[in-house]
Amino acid sequence: MSQNRSEWNSSFAFLIAMIGSAVGLGNIWRFPYVLYSNGGGSFIIPYIVAILLLGFSLALLEYSVGYKFKASFSKTFNKIKPKLEYVAWFICFTVFLIVSYYVTVIGWDLLYLILSFFKGWGADPNLFFIDSILNQNNSIAGLFTFSPLVLIATILVWAMAWYISHRNINSGIAKVSKILVPLLFVMVIIIVLFSLTLPGASIGYSAMFTPDWGALLDLNIWIAAFGQILFSLSLGMAILITYSSYLPDDSKLVDNAAIVIFSNSSFEIFNAIGVFSILGFMSFTSGIQINELITEGTGLAFIAFPKVFNVMGDAAYILGPLFFACILFAGITSLVSLLEPFIDSISDKFGSSRKKTTTIICIIGFCISTIFTTGMGSFILEIFDGFLNNFSLLLGVLFECVIFGWFYSIDDLLEVINKNTSIKIGIWWKNVVKYVLPIVLSVLLLKGIYDSIFLGSPEEYVIKGILILLLIIVPIVLTKVKGKENSVLT
Ligand code: TRP
Repeated sequence: MSQNRSEWNSSFAFLIAMIGSAVGLGNIWRFPYVLYSNGGGSFIIPYIVAILLLGFSLALLEYSVGYKFKASFSKTFNKIKPKLEYVAWFICFTVFLIVSYYVTVIGWDLLYLILSFFKGWGADPNLFFIDSILNQNNSIAGLFTFSPLVLIATILVWAMAWYISHRNINSGIAKVSKILVPLLFVMVIIIVLFSLTLPGASIGYSAMFTPDWGALLDLNIWIAAFGQILFSLSLGMAILITYSSYLPDDSKLVDNAAIVIFSNSSFEIFNAIGVFSILGFMSFTSGIQINELITEGTGLAFIAFPKVFNVMGDAAYILGPLFFACILFAGITSLVSLLEPFIDSISDKFGSSRKKTTTIICIIGFCISTIFTTGMGSFILEIFDGFLNNFSLLLGVLFECVIFGWFYSIDDLLEVINKNTSIKIGIWWKNVVKYVLPIVLSVLLLKGIYDSIFLGSPEEYVIKGILILLLIIVPIVLTKVKGKENSVLT
């Protein structure tokens, strides 16, 4: 099967798909808050250290594994040791569960994109989001009510994902990324340049850049920087390994890693200047302090920003749609990358066509997503998000490092990394993978276990319990079920 494995038709196709994967909602609505609440200007130091130590080294590890094995994610682990296939399915399934709610979040954004043309959120965006969009009800009864708007939006986003992913990688993922990623960059440049001209913009960006050097002594800030890089570069999600397994032989891994990391970080820092300038404008017009305005995630995009657009006048009819379109484009290219490892692994193992596999995965994914369209959806979504990112993924990536650092010949990987590249990587990299990464990831995992497992209400424990069960059972089943090749052999 690997003989007719897909291959990117140019190294640009790979690069743009990788950038599309990295640049996602995390860059737009997570980074500004992380930066601000972790020391502002001085955050740049732990941030750069995190890029060099974790981002670059882990990206090289994942690229070299994909490039060397040229197989689906699950088969790669199986080739090292059949039992390790479980780890691969555990990671794939974790990412699939992430997809199930990410689709709904992009769906919310789709609704806001439409609303932004006429400021359809009304005078109280907070109430509008909770009541009219989410139809929120955080008790069990909420499971039996649902939001028709969110359901329709979720169906549309799944349909888009299916449309892109069922095609081969060049006419699907690569083609869409070639259109959306440049558009996204142009739109962000317009947003930032415009927001810099707003009255009060300087209040915002000076708050963003003001350093708090004392903060550097706080371990939490370093943890935040490493966490942001891991998240922002989509590391540990099987994506880099899968995408690089489609690379042609003459690819330059180090150059590719450097370009993706540089583009991703430039995007998020540049975009943060825009977000802060807009919040500075709000602070200037409303007299509210910046620290009370800055939030992250849905609170920033669907509540704080609509409030700003309400006081902005006619310019908001341009800025609003641009902002929500950015989130949509960034979200879609990340979404298809999150789906790819699962699609590839399932179709490789069971010998099913790409189209059929994508259709089945999208239908099952949609069924899971319906939970997030209920009144209790946003409550469950937050638990999924915290648990899967702060615990499950970290556990997976720690396993990945230990497996490739210690149980597989890492010298082979270093050779692969240095094969075509002009900048050679030294043996320091092996030490980073063997010692530094496992230590850093263990610290992140311990913090994640504390935050996501020990804190929470009884309902949260039930949901986390279900997640733990699913994450044990589904990967075991996928590992044990005989694949097509196995059944032919036996
Ligand atoms: N890197 C992308 C982003 O910044 C995609 C991504 C990484 C992601 N981790 C995620 C998306 C977790 C959803 C959930 O958004």
